Amino acid sequence: MLSGKNILVAITGGIAAYKICELIRMYKRANANVRVVCTPSALHFVTKLTLQNLSQNEVGVEEFSPEQYKPEHISYADEADIMVIAPATANTIGKIANGICDNLLTSIACAFTKPILIAPAMNCGMWDNNFVQENISKLKNAGFTILEPESGFLACGYEGKGRLCSLEEIFNKTLETLQTQKKLTGKNILITAGGTIEPIDTVRYISNYSSGKMGIALADCAYKQGANVELVTTVDVEKPYTVTKVKTAQDMQKAVGQSFAQTDCIIMAAAVADYRAKNVANYKMKKTDDGNEISIELVKNPDILKEICQKRTTSHPLIVGFCAESENLLKNAKEKLVKKGCDYLIANDISRKDIGFSSDYNEVTILSKNGDFKKLPRAAKTEIAKSILEAIYE
Ligand code: PMT
Repeated sequence: MLSGKNILVAITGGIAAYKICELIRMYKRANANVRVVCTPSALHFVTKLTLQNLSQNEVGVEEFSPEQYKPEHISYADEADIMVIAPATANTIGKIANGICDNLLTSIACAFTKPILIAPAMNCGMWDNNFVQENISKLKNAGFTILEPESGFLACGYEGKGRLCSLEEIFNKTLETLQTQKKLTGKNILITAGGTIEPIDTVRYISNYSSGKMGIALADCAYKQGANVELVTTVDVEKPYTVTKVKTAQDMQKAVGQSFAQTDCIIMAAAVADYRAKNVANYKMKKTDDGNEISIELVKNPDILKEICQKRTTSHPLIVGFCAESENLLKNAKEKLVKKGCDYLIANDISRKDIGFSSDYNEVTILSKNGDFKKLPRAAKTEIAKSILEAIYE
């Protein structure tokens, strides 16, 4: 199952370290090439010799080896397809979440650009600690996969949440991650993000609270899965894929139109202003002394999503819209799906403060033109992005 895959097993200093010996055997039985790195404290719980025998590879602990032409942490990071940190102590979680690199394992994690799975295990009080939870949220938001610990009887004698999740769960997640990782290789995916900025004069504009986080999470995830990504965005970002910076709905319409023919899938996560000022003053408009009111005449912006759906002659490219509603979410979303003519519509409730606009989290329902729908519970936008791409891929 894992033939040809390079798995880097990273063990930190917790009692659950002994269980990882069996995980290494599971990976080996599935024909993976396994390398192991440990923090020095992990070796209080398992021996280097055991890990070396099981993985059939040298075990890395020291960061600075004079025999290597390349720094150790870089060669480990380059070779592996996935890094599995299990058990992950509160200490190592804290270091990784804050960019601290004070041993081989944390330095590799910092340099690693491929998927990292983290399986925490610790005392229940430590797991509930606010700082630990903050670090876990930080890692989730940065795209790390956290395999939550289980509740039960802990080695320290306490009863609670903190026990390493099952080895089967770690194994299956490794398999799933490696299988889905490059599913989108060769696909051209265009994603829009952010709120459009519609000028009124040289210093004022109409816009909305979109931060671009949802669209950027989708673009990052598609890129990680091998797609050629173009992000058309109103937000300044530096990415290893193509970023086309736009301001207005008309700019966005032009950018989407230019790439349309070469694109396999378009995802419109941007919050496009429906109206713009009819006349944009090329100076700062002055406050006048007559009356308390002024009117700005607005004209309709192009409906980019509707336009691209009408433009395609076959079902290519696949088109996914978003739907931002503050009431009657599903009813309005169903109507919008038909009106716009897209293949999928991702509905989110923008009246809630804990999801949607600007939040790091979202909760969405994926509606398909076939009438199917799938509800994704509240999760980090990075997780929601993964699930949306997964559903579309299926
Ligand atoms: O950016 P974040 O802070 O992370 O917030 C994410 C989000 C809430 C902006 C995102 O999840 C979202 O809901 N995006 C769509 C916002 C929106 O404009 O929804 P809508 O229901 O008004 O429009 C429906 C669809 O038509 C959208 O895909 C939109 O991009 C598209 N549209 C809308 C108007 C227009 N003139 N042209 C369009 O193409």
